[in-house]
Amino acid sequence: MAQTWTPNSWRQKPIQQVPDYPDLAALEAVETRLAKYPPLVFAGEARRLKTALANVAEGRGFLLQGGDCAESFAEHGADTIRDFFRAFLQMAVVLTFGAQQPVVKVGRIAGQFAKPRSSGVEKQGDVTLPSYRGDIINGIEFTEEARVPNPERQVMAYRQSAATLNLLRAFAMGGYANLENVHQWMLGFVKDSPQAERYRKLADRISETMDFMKAIGITSENHPSLRETDFFTSHEALLLGYEQALTRVDSTSGDWYATSGHMIWIGDRTRQPDHAHVEYCRGIKNPLGLKCGPSLTADGLLELIDLLNPANEPGRLTLICRFGHDKVAEHLPRLIRAVEREGKKVVWSCDPMHGNTITLNNYKTRPFERILSEVESFFQIHRAEGTHPGGIHIEMTGNDVTECTGGARALSGDDLADRYHTHCDPRLNADQALELAFLLAERMKGGRDEKKMVVNG
Ligand code: PEP
Ligand code: CO
Repeated sequence: MAQTWTPNSWRQKPIQQVPDYPDLAALEAVETRLAKYPPLVFAGEARRLKTALANVAEGRGFLLQGGDCAESFAEHGADTIRDFFRAFLQMAVVLTFGAQQPVVKVGRIAGQFAKPRSSGVEKQGDVTLPSYRGDIINGIEFTEEARVPNPERQVMAYRQSAATLNLLRAFAMGGYANLENVHQWMLGFVKDSPQAERYRKLADRISETMDFMKAIGITSENHPSLRETDFFTSHEALLLGYEQALTRVDSTSGDWYATSGHMIWIGDRTRQPDHAHVEYCRGIKNPLGLKCGPSLTADGLLELIDLLNPANEPGRLTLICRFGHDKVAEHLPRLIRAVEREGKKVVWSCDPMHGNTITLNNYKTRPFERILSEVESFFQIHRAEGTHPGGIHIEMTGNDVTECTGGARALSGDDLADRYHTHCDPRLNADQALELAFLLAERMKGGRDEKKMVVNG
């Protein structure tokens, strides 16, 4: 029998990745203040996302989750948010067409501020300082002052999340997400892309469909679903004091919800079953993500599934697999088989970023072809196992950065220095993100044709 859960029961457990706050009284004062602030999201919205993800778990939908590795205070601006949202919606349209299924849109945004680090310290020359842990904790500048964890940053992260969400809600509901606009932007990409020919067919088919809909009187004026979209937020629930302060009882159901974002996930470094992060997450009712890396055993995964989703509720748990392009074939099948054997309902999602990071010219980067290769293996393995490849989880931005190599414009190691802006891991730029969506859509369409042939043949 699991012990009683409370929003602070995680404090009794061992914990990884905690910042060393020098002033604990100041930290407590900030947490007390945050606990009085309004929730950022509502329980009903988190339930709606869970229902959408339940459909994905049953094979009727696809999850697109993406955004910055780490949001930053410095880059907070309307243009950055708009450009991200635009690139993300374009991807969603392409994927909807490829999968012929609803695409559930979840941003890594409006709360993605805290970062787990592989080392507690960073060394430059002979100077060693505490590692940067995300803007919600300390500053990225390599100085002693900046690296001291400062609890006031939690209030700044809360306020930035609120402002970001406000703009995203307006974009999602106020006409910006109109399918006709999104389609027009996409045509721009196809025209300029070095791979134009390859993408033109898909873009033409979307155009034809839209013309047909218009001809029979289905327009964004008379169908709100063409001009509005459901968009949800997510982040890694790493800084548990902050999460606890925003954990609230939902008055309709009496259940506890994290109100810092619609979906939260547990990182690959903090998924120990008897530790604090799993303890916190098991008690809240939001949809949860769990990062699954090469060190996760099949039994370890089943133990975590029982802790996090004891009722086997579809939509509650998304397994975000991040093995690396050369390791996915070794690790994914054993996890799929264990989950299938036990009849567990999960969404299988592929994070092709975190297992494919390399260093080139002193920059952390990710080769586009490895990202694509991991996604392709993920699809093939699921087809072979008869399970549903339910989603992708990517680090991306709407800006024209040079952080990942490759793609249609063949960014090279020498280009990385041009516009390398990330506060943590290298992101796909807008072109690379859309190109990934086109390539994926081609594969999904291929998969559907294969299935039809099996059924007909
Ligand atoms: C991340 O998603 O930014 C991250 C740190 O991932 P992981 O926990 O899978 O390493
Ligand atoms: Co990352």
